[in-house]
Amino acid sequence: MLSEEERREIEAEFPHYPTRQAVCIDAMKIVQKHRGWVSDEALKDISELLGMPLAELDGVATFYNLIFRQPVGRHVIYVCDSVSCWIMHSDRQFRHLRERLGTAPGETTADGRFTLLPIVCLGACDRAPVMMVDDDLHGLLEPGKIDGILEKYR
Ligand code: FES
Repeated sequence: MLSEEERREIEAEFPHYPTRQAVCIDAMKIVQKHRGWVSDEALKDISELLGMPLAELDGVATFYNLIFRQPVGRHVIYVCDSVSCWIMHSDRQFRHLRERLGTAPGETTADGRFTLLPIVCLGACDRAPVMMVDDDLHGLLEPGKIDGILEKYR
């Protein structure tokens, strides 16, 4: 069941779009902001509110990789694995992160602090290799810098 606040925030988006269905990404982001992820039940509630077929909404959620369909850690680390970052040895930074966090891509650390995810180009190729932690972009990565960045996120 959507909370009153979630419903109110979603409905506040309706005037900004030509149809209710066009609000679908914003609606999922709103629920994710409140709960940390979008469960099957939440997806069903959103589909009913928007009058949008559940399968169609699920397709959008699957395509849009910033919508989480499983619980994630308190902070999400996205490591760019596209070509510019790869040329600049993003694989080494990814390995360092995996070792430091003791987790594999797609997994969450045992303490629930971080979820580690690969992602396509973050649009900051001039600062490769790049990662994003929550909404913060960090570039020109190397292991010492990564360790300092992780300390900022508790
Ligand atoms: S390839 Fe990594 S930011 Fe573009």
